[in-house]
Amino acid sequence: MKKISIAIDGPASSGKSTVAKILAKKLGYIYCDTGAMYRALTYLAITKNIDFEDEKALVDLCLEHRISFEQTEKEQLVFIDRAQVTEAIRQPDVTNAVSIVAKHGAVRAKMVELQQMIGRAGGVVMDGRDIGTAVLPDAEVKIFLVASVIERAQRRYKENQEKGISTDFETLKKEIEQRDYLDSTRKVSPLKQAVDAVKIDTTGMGIEEVVKAIEEIISTKN
Ligand code: DC
Repeated sequence: MKKISIAIDGPASSGKSTVAKILAKKLGYIYCDTGAMYRALTYLAITKNIDFEDEKALVDLCLEHRISFEQTEKEQLVFIDRAQVTEAIRQPDVTNAVSIVAKHGAVRAKMVELQQMIGRAGGVVMDGRDIGTAVLPDAEVKIFLVASVIERAQRRYKENQEKGISTDFETLKKEIEQRDYLDSTRKVSPLKQAVDAVKIDTTGMGIEEVVKAIEEIISTKN
């Protein structure tokens, strides 16, 4: 079967990464979590006391450090240079600042360059906000996953509980709404459904059900 590119976009906690990981494993494809790249840069900015509005300093961070992934049997590890930051980039301080860091055009240009290199050979499942519109505009399969804010907040709440991170549900809901707002109203590559993407509303759907729906779409491309 021909190796294709699969772009999965959607708002925060719409299930993109869970579904993308399962699909990549089933297909034997590379999985690229582009949100983790923006998170890693945000983590670097926090640790180095860089102002989130300082676009030039953020781009310099991209040039000075190397963000990379390592796939293990169990999970995908995220590295900044040689330091493993997989857990650190999921902490609330990073989550609440990442949309500010990700709004800068020059930062996005650097990230898109890296993401296009990863996706160049095909055989990739990439998730994010602008994959179908900007990073892989020629992807054979484009999916736009959505879910109600309440359900997304419930998913994040459960995830946090499992990781031992304590959060207030209403705060979580407000943070998701705020991220949706920032991600979809920024000037450069806002979160937007590509014209040729298939929208799937995952509210009330189980993960396997979503995976199956996407597999059916993929099967029409081979
Ligand atoms: O998917 P996530 O929650 O890990 O993404 C973190 C943030 O990164 C998200 O709020 C917006 C930004 N992002 C982006 O702007 N473009 C992408 N392709 C992926 C993520």
